[in-house]
Amino acid sequence: MKQLTLKIERIDQAYQQAIKDSTTLENLELVRIQFLGRKGEIAQLMPLLKDLSTDEKRIIGPALNQLKQSAEDTYLLKKEALIAQAFEQQEARNKDFDITSYSPLKSTGSLHLYTQATEKIENIFLSMGYSIADGPEVETEFYNFESLNIGKNHPARDMQDTFFLNIPNMVLRTQTSNVQVRTMQKRKPPFAVICTGKVYRNEATDASHDYMFRQFEGLVVGETISLSNLLATMRLFFEKFFEKKNLKIRARPGYFPFVEPGLEIDMSCPFCSNGCSTCKQSCWIELVGGGLVHPNVLKHGGIDPTRYSGFAFGFGLTRLIMLKYSINDIRLLHNGQKEFLEQF
Ligand code: PHE
Repeated sequence: MKQLTLKIERIDQAYQQAIKDSTTLENLELVRIQFLGRKGEIAQLMPLLKDLSTDEKRIIGPALNQLKQSAEDTYLLKKEALIAQAFEQQEARNKDFDITSYSPLKSTGSLHLYTQATEKIENIFLSMGYSIADGPEVETEFYNFESLNIGKNHPARDMQDTFFLNIPNMVLRTQTSNVQVRTMQKRKPPFAVICTGKVYRNEATDASHDYMFRQFEGLVVGETISLSNLLATMRLFFEKFFEKKNLKIRARPGYFPFVEPGLEIDMSCPFCSNGCSTCKQSCWIELVGGGLVHPNVLKHGGIDPTRYSGFAFGFGLTRLIMLKYSINDIRLLHNGQKEFLEQF
């Protein structure tokens, strides 16, 4: 019995020491297995009881239980202390962690070219006193055609391959010109607005066509609006958008039922002085349709054409972006490929 008492004491001492020396939860777990495990040192003492007399059992039995109980308590206390310590260490590390610091390995997103260009265009026109107008992409035939002087049987309806919808009199807008009469009905002249947005045409997709692309439209109505205002505005816009001074413009007659006279306005090539592949060696780039708002359109908008005049212009925003950033395939702008978009 004496031997057993000594053994209990020794195990107890060794255990206390081992607990003290455990500095991590992993260490502590090894100590627990060594002493408190199913085949651990304390468990191995239990079978020795049966060789003792009843009196001895009465003394050693409770001593062994006491050893086991206090070893378990010590273990739990130590475990709690180590968890608290690990938490504190983590907190200390977090305190030094600067969430604003730059990490070269993290990739960040960027604004799509459409968003960048739209913001740039809107800022240019806002600085000229314009405001931003908006219109729906699912549009009535009235705003997309009729109000723009394009009657039911007007051949101009075939100029733009329209997506007609199963809903009567509704189409996917083929042009941002649908905002013209919408804007006139909402505002009193004088006013100047631009509107950028998606338009849809039933066309096969290739490098320069897609069934969806973007346009932007300008509309100015006032008492003395003339073609020279339109041309001056276009030149100023080109210079600001392409960040180039002394760009020239030229105007040719163009037919759009909602303007009279109608013009196609070209810009001198901003990329060369004597011909390049972008301007197809012509030194001119066709970009915009425009003209003076047709009196019928003003009437549809509730504006008296004998008192007011206006100009309107329409750009292919998609084409403008492709030109500015030398993008040779429209699909690159529309398919959301990360490798392409990351360049801008
Ligand atoms: N909406 C015309 C188009 O899509 C462009 C345009 C707009 C022409 C405004 C004249 C005035 O081709």
